[in-house]
Amino acid sequence: MFNLPDDMAFFKNNTLDKVVVMGRNTLLSFPGGKPLKNRTNIVLTTNRSFQAEGCILCHSFDELFKELEKYSDDDVLVIGGGKIYNDLYSYCSEAYITKVDSIVNADTFLHNFDEDGDWYLSYASEVHENNGLKFTFNTYKNKNIAPIINL
Ligand SMILES: NC(=O)c1ccc[n+]([C@@H]2O[C@H](COP(=O)([O-])OP(=O)(O)OC[C@H]3O[C@@H](n4cnc5c(N)ncnc54)[C@H](OP(=O)(O)O)[C@@H]3O)[C@@H](O)[C@H]2O)c1
Repeated sequence: MFNLPDDMAFFKNNTLDKVVVMGRNTLLSFPGGKPLKNRTNIVLTTNRSFQAEGCILCHSFDELFKELEKYSDDDVLVIGGGKIYNDLYSYCSEAYITKVDSIVNADTFLHNFDEDGDWYLSYASEVHENNGLKFTFNTYKNKNIAPIINL
């Protein structure tokens, strides 16, 4: 995992007071398995006996989409992990991708927006550097947002 304080600050600024949607593994990867403060935390799990204080649990995408009707679309951010990103990106209008100039052995993989004709790069930042690693902040936009069906 990369230690990039500027990226953490970017994540915090963009999610504070918003609704964050994540898979159970991502929640459990946070310190103490605790939800993020000052955000509405929605966690997907198929495990109906799983409990998580301070989280709204959804047990299917139908349940999630029903829950999300309570919020403005602009306030909802999908924050991972791999499974949830890859299953939900087609419903999203934008993707915020931090690209790190480094080669590592990864265990979790994200859809490649550069190779998807439905998406285009709308913003690329200047190069940042933290702890000797160079990275950029990028925004992709979705030209073909999937409709939510089967509710
Ligand atoms: N770089 C980043 O931006 C970033 C962000 C977040 C996480 N991560 C990393 O990603 C990894 C975790 O990713 P992951 O793919 O293993 O797990 P994940 O996407 O966080 O969570 C997957 C879990 O979500 C639940 N789930 C998935 N689809 C569901 C559905 N349709 N209905 C109900 N529940 C559903 C299942 O939980 P149950 O097994 O309980 O049913 C599933 O095991 C960690 O290593 C984390 O550090 C990276």
